[in-house]
Amino acid sequence: MINITILGATGSIGKSTLAVIDLYNKDFNVFAISANTDHKQMLDLCNKYHPKYAVMADADAAEKLASTVSVDTQVLSGTKALDDIASHTDTDYVMAAIVGSAGMSSALAAAKAGKRIMLANKESLVLAGDIFIEAVKTNNAELIPVDSEHSAVFQCLQSGTSGLNKIQLTASGGPFLHTPIEKLKNITPDEACAHPNWSMGRKISVDSATMMNKGLEVIEAYYLFNLDPGQIDVIVHPQSIVHSSVYYQDGSTLSQLGNPDMRTVIAYALGYPQRINSGVSAINLAKNSPLEFYQPDLDKFACLKLAFEALNKGGSAMGTINAANEIAVDNFLNNKIKFLDIPEVIEKTLDASIHSAPLSLKEIVDNDINSRQIAQEIINSYV
Ligand SMILES: NC(=O)c1ccc[n+]([C@@H]2O[C@H](COP(=O)([O-])OP(=O)(O)OC[C@H]3O[C@@H](n4cnc5c(N)ncnc54)[C@H](OP(=O)(O)O)[C@@H]3O)[C@@H](O)[C@H]2O)c1
Repeated sequence: MINITILGATGSIGKSTLAVIDLYNKDFNVFAISANTDHKQMLDLCNKYHPKYAVMADADAAEKLASTVSVDTQVLSGTKALDDIASHTDTDYVMAAIVGSAGMSSALAAAKAGKRIMLANKESLVLAGDIFIEAVKTNNAELIPVDSEHSAVFQCLQSGTSGLNKIQLTASGGPFLHTPIEKLKNITPDEACAHPNWSMGRKISVDSATMMNKGLEVIEAYYLFNLDPGQIDVIVHPQSIVHSSVYYQDGSTLSQLGNPDMRTVIAYALGYPQRINSGVSAINLAKNSPLEFYQPDLDKFACLKLAFEALNKGGSAMGTINAANEIAVDNFLNNKIKFLDIPEVIEKTLDASIHSAPLSLKEIVDNDINSRQIAQEIINSYV
């Protein structure tokens, strides 16, 4: 029996992980789960899976859960408790699926404890890529991407990187691929969250609509596959059937294809190196034709351009754009700023920040806090 800790169990990835585990209840045990504030959903999960630990990041929510839970589950709270369940001796695999920079510490704790990390929280690599990869290597942890594009590249690179020219991440282009830029001005949060192919949390849905998600994924790929920035390419593919491709010197291109459903990626990470059933049906290529591909429009999707810029600057610039983006998206979702303000806030924050190569976790956290402050001040000056 393999003990799984699911960080972010109430989220979109968390729920899809549990759906795959439900198919294998003799092989996988839900050892620990976490959420931020959703104590009601956590109570349902405790009743169904009887985990040893349930962590609420929010202390009030932890109290509410503790007062209602009747099964033999220990309720804990706070960020240290997240690190503790991620690195617990009895945890075998960790699904790192907390959204945003809040997921970095626990994912890193899992790496330091030598676990199999099924990494959905791309922000861990964007913020602390060097430290994270070093922790994985030093502690013999296993790092398996849980992002459809990176899982595709990981699968295509199973025979190694000999003769590799470049990787190409596919992007759906989000809900506004064909919307003229002047019509983006008055987009509402609900319109931005209505992704045509993927069902996801609200923050990542907005990131897909701005294409910042692809920008963060470019940085994620840089660290996961140890590439030069120039070896990472992005192509828009609205059908989200080809999940990504790798190009070799001999003219060969390998791609991984499938229906857009994260359970496939999660099942791959759980079963690796075996392939197990995910509950997702195979694609019918004839029914999905034609498959289209376009170059991304970097003027309309300025967030993608900014992410490449940050990657080329290196070091703290990547943490800066991530922090500015989290603040801008949060303000957009709360109707404080407009959709097109998001790239503007990120660009202004990047310009106003001093960039260095962050060495320690403390410097990374300090840069995250500073960048958030700068971004919020820029937003305050709008209203
Ligand atoms: N969804 C996808 O298809 C997809 C695909 C690839 C990668 N990812 C990545 O996977 C991660 C999760 O995405 P998602 O779409 O599953 O997000 P989501 O649906 O918003 O779920 C986020 C989870 O994190 C918890 N959480 C939120 N803030 C937290 C905090 N401050 N401290 C501790 N826990 C916190 C939430 O708890 P509450 O429910 O209590 O708020 C929830 O369990 C993101 O990094 C995203 O980029 C997602």
